[in-house]
Amino acid sequence: MIVKDEPFVMISGEVHNSSSSSAQYIEKVWDQAKALGMNSLLLPVTWEMVEPEEGVLDFSLVDQLIFQARSRDMKICFLWFGAWKNAQCYYAPPWVKTDLERFKRAEVAKGKNGIILTKVFDLFDLSYSSLSYLCSTTNECETKTLKKLMNHIKEVDEQEKTVVMIQIENETGLLYSAREHSDLADELFDSDVPQQFVDYMKNHVDTMVPDVREQVEAGAEQGNWSAVFGSAAEEIFSAYHIANYVDRVAAAGKEIYSIPMVVNCWLNKKGEVAGQYPSGGPVSRMMEVWRYAAPVIDIFAPDIYIADFCGVCDEYTRRGNPLFIPETSTHSYAGPRLVYSVGHYHALGFSPFGFEEMGEPISVVAGSLFGMETTDPALAIPQDVEEYGWFGRTLNSMMPMLTQKYGTKDLQASCYERKDDNTMLFGDLGFSISYESPLLSRKDGVCLILKESEDEFFIIANGCVVKPFSTIEGKPYMDILVCEEGAFENGKWTMTRRLNGDEIALLFYNKPTLLKVKLFAYK
Ligand code: DGJ
Repeated sequence: MIVKDEPFVMISGEVHNSSSSSAQYIEKVWDQAKALGMNSLLLPVTWEMVEPEEGVLDFSLVDQLIFQARSRDMKICFLWFGAWKNAQCYYAPPWVKTDLERFKRAEVAKGKNGIILTKVFDLFDLSYSSLSYLCSTTNECETKTLKKLMNHIKEVDEQEKTVVMIQIENETGLLYSAREHSDLADELFDSDVPQQFVDYMKNHVDTMVPDVREQVEAGAEQGNWSAVFGSAAEEIFSAYHIANYVDRVAAAGKEIYSIPMVVNCWLNKKGEVAGQYPSGGPVSRMMEVWRYAAPVIDIFAPDIYIADFCGVCDEYTRRGNPLFIPETSTHSYAGPRLVYSVGHYHALGFSPFGFEEMGEPISVVAGSLFGMETTDPALAIPQDVEEYGWFGRTLNSMMPMLTQKYGTKDLQASCYERKDDNTMLFGDLGFSISYESPLLSRKDGVCLILKESEDEFFIIANGCVVKPFSTIEGKPYMDILVCEEGAFENGKWTMTRRLNGDEIALLFYNKPTLLKVKLFAYK
């Protein structure tokens, strides 16, 4: 991402849903973010707050948030909470919510605009309802509002560029049913799928998850949704219409002011079927549908609360999608995951959700509200905030060097969660990283290595043993010519200690450390 001609990686945090509803309340949160080494925040801007009455726009809070960011030299990604928030319509203004004639609700079952939820631990305990993805009036009104918001941001921020990204909606999709069941929805579902879309899907099976691919391959060349997409039809139908809806809103906004636009995703857990997770949201199994129907979206971003963090990152980078993580847990692996996302995936951004509470244990109740896998042992251990701040500040201090190496093999990382993938090769020289050793007192290790020149490297290490090696033919032996511990200050390397003797006999680290190392291979 380029901001004012400079590459920018969002070392970020997403605030709790209600924190940015008051400029006064959020003051302290900005300071907390600064202390955690963040350079930007993800902040909700909600439809209900900017348009309390139809056509009456109020951007005073938006201005205050922008001002607060500027005064701390930070950036913002606004989260547009429009028709969808967690597959519901929490943030639609009252004038939308109360006019069920104009602003149709999704019929979760025939004739039913909602569901009363009774399960004690269900995420949303009152009643479930969502606006219909097929309602053109909702789409038109929301589009009008977003255009005005983008126009306002352009007016106040085009020069300064404090707002660097917009997330359109929040975790779209439909719960408790794979598709809507209104008469209109039924009619569309029984009509022919637009042929261009069928052809696109048939031509993109290689990038689909196996079960969707199977259905698309086996389906008819033309016909209604069931005929063409088999058992995946309902989810694809929802994804197609939601992506279309989102595309119209985002495209209109981009036409006014073109900055990157992202959609975030409530992920499906293993074994779940569409409706148990929001059906039609940008889960990786629906990625091709979204790519076709929402071409204006720049980034598909996973909200990662499940244990297999790296698996999700792999999935979301497989199709050339840049990695941007707008939400993830604040537990013990938040720090290492930040470093790994930058070093391994060359991520555009990493942002723990509700970072205001980083450092506090996550209870099972809070965990299940966040959609976390509550059996994940990492949940029990809070992230050390001092360490997180160190990681954030250190990555920020290295920003131009890091981004220069993005997209190259000169920037690599490994982490405890992928401890078997522990070798990094930079031309003829390499490093193998161990995470299990009697020398180590922790199980959340991470190591990022940046190749500065043929034999010089910067290394961020924590909870690991680092072993350099040579693959140069006939030169198997290695000297560490220089090993300095230090930091970057205003872009310049500043040594705090020259390490040698005992300190380089074994390169093991039980606290976050930044090193500059020069190696020599000989025969
Ligand atoms: C995911 C949502 O996108 C967030 O806004 C927040 O509601 C979290 N879940 C958990 O509460």
